[in-house]
Amino acid sequence: MAERLDDRTVLVTGANGGLGREFVQQALDRGARRVYAAARSSRSWTDDRVVALPLDLTDARSIADAAQTASDVDLVVNNAAIAPEDDASIAAGDDDVAHRVFETNFFGTLRVTTAFAPVLAANGGGAILNVLSLAAWLPVPTAYAASKAALWSATNATRAELAAQRTSVTGLIVGMIDTPMSARWELPKVSAASVVAQGYDGVASGAFEVLADADSLDVKGRLSGSSEELNAYLAERLADFEP
Ligand SMILES: NC(=O)c1ccc[n+]([C@@H]2O[C@H](COP(=O)([O-])OP(=O)(O)OC[C@H]3O[C@@H](n4cnc5c(N)ncnc54)[C@H](OP(=O)(O)O)[C@@H]3O)[C@@H](O)[C@H]2O)c1
Repeated sequence: MAERLDDRTVLVTGANGGLGREFVQQALDRGARRVYAAARSSRSWTDDRVVALPLDLTDARSIADAAQTASDVDLVVNNAAIAPEDDASIAAGDDDVAHRVFETNFFGTLRVTTAFAPVLAANGGGAILNVLSLAAWLPVPTAYAASKAALWSATNATRAELAAQRTSVTGLIVGMIDTPMSARWELPKVSAASVVAQGYDGVASGAFEVLADADSLDVKGRLSGSSEELNAYLAERLADFEP
């Protein structure tokens, strides 16, 4: 049975996206008292427990304003990110693309974490759920993958640092999910509903990490092997993949 979020106040970044909408809906289904749907552009929501909140990861002012408005939050879901089509090479990549990706996925997410850490502390500790990606562990030549690897590291460090204020920090690792972000790849994908359900269950149990699909479980199981073996295996698996 799904773990409940009764009396919790949840903030979801990127709330208008494929996974974001599901995070909002399942928080409501699990009994959340209020859900802040944080997004660059506001849309209307039918449930009156949803409060639309302007938030752009690249705009520090909007994040500070959101933290002031949403001062009752006790669960932050760092979900928003970009995976632009022109992000297709690390060795010959465009500096501007890499900066745009890191500015959003890494620095933007850290800005939200920094702004909301005091809010969570004031509300008893609470929790942070960071949406990462299996790309963090794959030799995929994109700034997106590198930004998620950096965020994976920062997620672990945030957990260690915020333990003193009793904030739990969960990283959500998953391969391909059926959302607008992955529409350009014709590959097997898991549903947003199943990923979000596992993410919220992980928060409820205080899990450090949630591996939300078979590919993530498979790769995690191989990380303790030699790097040569792992990379040979992944090169074969990714032979037909084009970023
Ligand atoms: N789809 C996959 O296969 C997959 C796999 C692993 C991990 N993930 C991760 O899952 C999370 C959700 O992605 P998704 O699949 O749901 O993709 P999505 O449908 O493209 O949603 C991404 C959301 O992020 C928002 N966003 C982008 N830049 C932003 C900014 N500067 N400030 C605030 N919001 C911003 C977008 O806002 P707008 O609506 O305004 O464009 C959009 O709503 C991401 O962290 C992604 O990296 C996805």
